[in-house]
Amino acid sequence: MDETDDIGSNRSTAPDIGTVISRRAALLGGLAALAAREAGASAAGTGLGFTPLAHLMSPEDAVATGHRREVVLRWGDPVLPGAPPFDPLNQTAEAQARQFGTNVDFLALLPAERGGTTGRRALLWANHEYASTSLMFPGLGTGREARSRVTAEQAAVEMAALGGSVVEMEWRGGTWVPDPEGGLNRRITASTPMEIRGPAAGHPRMRTSEDPEGRRVLGMLCNCGGGVTPWGTVLTCEENINVFFGGEAQDEAQREARRRYNIVADPFYAWHRHVARFNLAHEPNEPNRFGWVVEVDPYDPRSTPIKRTALGRFKHEGAASALTPDGRVAIYMGDDERFEYIYRFVSARPFDPAHPDSNRHLLDEGTLSVARFEADGTVHWLPLVHGEGPLTEANGFGSQAEVLIETRRAADLLGATPMDRPEDVEANLASGRVYALLTNNSRRAAERVDPANPRGPNPHGHVIEMVPPGVPERPDHAAPVMRWNLFLRGGRPEAEAGAEYHRAANGEGNWLSCPDNCAFDGKGRIWIATDGAGPAAGMADGLFAAETEGEARALPRLFYRAPIGAEVCGPVIEAGERSILLAVQHPGEASGSSFDRPATRWPDFAEGMPPRASVVVITREDDGPIG
Ligand code: FEO
Ligand code: CA
Ligand code: CA
Repeated sequence: MDETDDIGSNRSTAPDIGTVISRRAALLGGLAALAAREAGASAAGTGLGFTPLAHLMSPEDAVATGHRREVVLRWGDPVLPGAPPFDPLNQTAEAQARQFGTNVDFLALLPAERGGTTGRRALLWANHEYASTSLMFPGLGTGREARSRVTAEQAAVEMAALGGSVVEMEWRGGTWVPDPEGGLNRRITASTPMEIRGPAAGHPRMRTSEDPEGRRVLGMLCNCGGGVTPWGTVLTCEENINVFFGGEAQDEAQREARRRYNIVADPFYAWHRHVARFNLAHEPNEPNRFGWVVEVDPYDPRSTPIKRTALGRFKHEGAASALTPDGRVAIYMGDDERFEYIYRFVSARPFDPAHPDSNRHLLDEGTLSVARFEADGTVHWLPLVHGEGPLTEANGFGSQAEVLIETRRAADLLGATPMDRPEDVEANLASGRVYALLTNNSRRAAERVDPANPRGPNPHGHVIEMVPPGVPERPDHAAPVMRWNLFLRGGRPEAEAGAEYHRAANGEGNWLSCPDNCAFDGKGRIWIATDGAGPAAGMADGLFAAETEGEARALPRLFYRAPIGAEVCGPVIEAGERSILLAVQHPGEASGSSFDRPATRWPDFAEGMPPRASVVVITREDDGPIG
């Protein structure tokens, strides 16, 4: 999928809100140091007891011995009342808008009731990132020609298959089971009405013929990683929005602004030929209304999702929350494209657990910053504030709205460090450290490496660890300067001779490729989901676990292996490690694979049934803690 850099992809950790709050209390109470010591102790021993899976490719998936996995939600499963059974040969937009969408990326498991805990009932949030057109409809074949044959009806099905789902879940028979009758169940699609808020709302460049105020927009696109706020809403992030807009730009200024976001006349999808607002000749400003972080209240199916422009416009991957010592909310974000940046937003006001209403629009005011990594081991967060430094009228920035609409260009001027495709950036609440997953960069030349991106080309990616001042007791996630180090490099060590691996002890089995999303368990161990290993490493993607402390630090062990063509994303680790939820996205997406001749028919393996992106739940056979 070279046209898009990475249209396939992924998400972030989402501890339930009860966990977030209790871990915050632990941090503020000084208990984190104890947790960190425990983590170190377990790492030195055999904290991760499972036998790693072999690195190979198969039409089937696999999980480590002693564990079981259930496929609990598949593309096309009923979500809303009246949803028909999935019928791949007779798809309609109406049916799809009531069924589970496709290509799940970010997952969050939330308490069934706001402010509660997950016990026997919960709410599942799932992003639906994009449509695997060739695998979705019969008779299209593969490649660019397949997409050129997409009809208006098929484009409408694709639009209904994107967005997100809320599904009530019940813990039954030792796993999570969806409740298709759940009263909070919801589908959000590429056509759902949304509000635009924050500094860019209402700006002339946000206005269209359908929305002369620049404050209402239909739908969200290519939602990849995400996050959960301390107040229990979901942050779902628009990533490769460029693939949906086509047609000719109307003047050079528009062309230049689009170039920075890779918006081209002949895009990946055919929507612009069927739906006027995706055609730049009709609506030159429509792309400016996408590429944002969207906040959704999963507890109110009638609520209007809100695009939070204060968090910037780019190819958003992930929006992980962490609280600062004074209670403000820091949100870490990646911009997933080659040579793009890592960002952080810090709210102006603190989170107020006692007054939920005061948190409602907390994300409309704050400071967005971008990261510059220095060779001396420091990372500097550079504020993107209109009027400061180069972000002035002289450089074409007339207001903060314009800084945010063109976040990338503003970050260029500040001298941010171009990274190897930033995916998830997540805070480990047990240690206060922050991990940035750099998935790969095929275009980094050997002469263009830097200390934070030390390989050119970089087919396997790496993981950077950032250490805020004050860890572990009171990590300052608003600090202007942190320390950083190279935590893990992807790739098979013996095949990368001379690559100066972080871990000299890396051996067969202790490696991964193309890190994308991560989550942390209660002991502070990192669980890394990968996307793209297949072509680069000759192995399927998977979920890997590694210690973050002790002798086994940064030695990944393969725990779950995806079916061929799929990435793994959205890891959610339940408190106590009762279960892990994963998204298995774009199974069967491989060269020459199509609806009629798929590389796998996972998970149904039924003749005529295409591969179906799904949510899986992993538990231990003896019902003990995972891993
Ligand atoms: Fe959609 Fe950045 O992976
Ligand atoms: Ca990815
Ligand atoms: Ca991703």
